[in-house]
Amino acid sequence: MQRITIKKILSKKNRTPIICLTAYSKTTAEISDKYCDIILVGDSLANVLYGMKSTREVKIDTMILHAKTVRKYSRKSLVVFDMPHRTYTNKFSAYKNAKKVIKHTKCHAVKLEGGKEIVKIIKYLTRKGIPVMGHIGLLPQTATNFRVKGKNSFQKKRILRDAIEVSKAGAFAIILECIVEDLAKEIKKSVSVPTIGIGASKYCDGQILVVDDMLGLSNNFPKFVRQYSNLRKIIEKSVKHYARDVKLKRFPYINNVYK
Ligand code: KIV
Repeated sequence: MQRITIKKILSKKNRTPIICLTAYSKTTAEISDKYCDIILVGDSLANVLYGMKSTREVKIDTMILHAKTVRKYSRKSLVVFDMPHRTYTNKFSAYKNAKKVIKHTKCHAVKLEGGKEIVKIIKYLTRKGIPVMGHIGLLPQTATNFRVKGKNSFQKKRILRDAIEVSKAGAFAIILECIVEDLAKEIKKSVSVPTIGIGASKYCDGQILVVDDMLGLSNNFPKFVRQYSNLRKIIEKSVKHYARDVKLKRFPYINNVYK
């Protein structure tokens, strides 16, 4: 099975929707790999796996552990590593950390949050051969609130400018997080690379969701999430059933016993 290339991702712009999900584990990597073009080992794992208050709390070595597994159990998707907060404060630290990430995880690209202020870093990494995915709009690593972005003309102009600069700096795709529909439409037309939306309307070249949110594992998720399953409920039902069986000595059942 051939792995999807960045060239192929670029060729999907304005043509075929790019399917992306986050994954942090063997099981989610194996399943997502069958259907996704891109798997992101997102720093959202801080919230959804570790119950941390902010993605700012997760450390690069924790992310590396998860990314190693996701990369190992995927065969065809492009695996992107989400660089944690404060691991790319300047181009030299960004390169040092991204090199370490690629060496230990074999991920194919890194993702950085930010616009104009990180252009030099994106240029430096891409020049050094490390593919970069951009991320603009709502930026969880530095956000002071989690409200939708681009509602006023000041924000609109700034986010559009960020998109153009990140694209010109060499990012191969840009995540648009939680922005209004007309801005997503404008950005899609204005940049040459694919835009991947999360809460950014259908006017994007692809979509991404946090896997725990779309599976209904998280108990708190934003309006833009569509819940395709309610695994939390299913797990609770199973655990409750098991507990009752043990209490009533109905488990182990006859076929669970070695003779
Ligand atoms: O960390 C993450 O899961 C992300 C997505 C929200 C795009 O950055």
